[in-house]
Amino acid sequence: MVKKYLELKSMSENPKSSEEQTEKKVPSTKKRFSVKEAEALGYYDFMSYLGVLYYHIGGLTSSKKLAELCQIDSTKKILMVGCGTGFSACYLARKIGCEVVGIDIAELSIEEAKERAKRQGVSDKAKFRVGDTYALPFKAGTFDAVITEFVSQFLDRERAFKEFSRVLKPGAYVGINEMYREKGIPAKAAEEIAQAEKKFIEITGLPFSLSSPEEWKEELERSGLKDVKVRMCKPSQHLQEIKNMAEAMGGTWIFVKYLIDLILKMVKYSLLSRKIRYRFKRLGEGKKILLRKKSTSKYVGYVLATGRKYL
Ligand SMILES: C[S@@+](CC[C@H](N)C(=O)[O-])C[C@H]1O[C@@H](n2cnc3c(N)ncnc32)[C@H](O)[C@@H]1O
Repeated sequence: MVKKYLELKSMSENPKSSEEQTEKKVPSTKKRFSVKEAEALGYYDFMSYLGVLYYHIGGLTSSKKLAELCQIDSTKKILMVGCGTGFSACYLARKIGCEVVGIDIAELSIEEAKERAKRQGVSDKAKFRVGDTYALPFKAGTFDAVITEFVSQFLDRERAFKEFSRVLKPGAYVGINEMYREKGIPAKAAEEIAQAEKKFIEITGLPFSLSSPEEWKEELERSGLKDVKVRMCKPSQHLQEIKNMAEAMGGTWIFVKYLIDLILKMVKYSLLSRKIRYRFKRLGEGKKILLRKKSTSKYVGYVLATGRKYL
């Protein structure tokens, strides 16, 4: 056990292969929160504090696919709205070489995103700031793409998409990775999915709803976007995604150590706080209905949808 810990520690401090050099050791400025302080944090601040890497379905594989659909290359500047802890923003900056600006209302997520960019050596390309979707702190016509990953479904789509459109250059893209539920499904399944939505609203304190693929199309078009395309995808666990995550973290053992740390922190806070235990319980129940329960999850998936600002 001790030998394994020393091995892991030495690997995280002295990465050997180039694959393991993704994340550099940067002194953390993270504050430690007492249980009471942790309970008072907003849901996404708390999850960022625990170290959750990302939330969207399809992971980094989908992030790359969505960037391709939006024709992102190294000359482009993109805005990731609701970027969370910047895991996919840093990944795109590193893999594609594009300039990425990430904004989020959760302050701790933005702190973690900035630290991640430093650790991955992409601070010059990936910048982060606290900001609100509905009043983006950028001039009109700034970006080649605005991307959301599991964010637009927490938003008033009409207001948000209009604001995305404002900051886009003519001809530029909105690209979204968001969950859908099929329309015209049996009443019982629809009721259970509505229950899951309520659970997410309760734990995050944010509005939350799944649109159907047809509704996502209409919602993008209503904001004036053209050439809207909606691709339906189903959640699946790919070995490639685990490899992507491990590589982005700096190597397999660092990733394994990260997972163990995350689980231990979740167990610790669950044991020490009834309020946090309740949050995890509701989260588990909501995820089960949307992603695992056969009678409901068969009607649920995620869309990779794109639209272009009128030229
Ligand atoms: C489910 S998380 C997704 C985070 C990230 N995109 C990912 O895939 O990991 C939703 C994020 O949207 C952010 N958010 C919610 N409402 C927002 C708003 N009005 N403006 C900016 N960010 C917002 C939350 O703070 C949270 O980080």
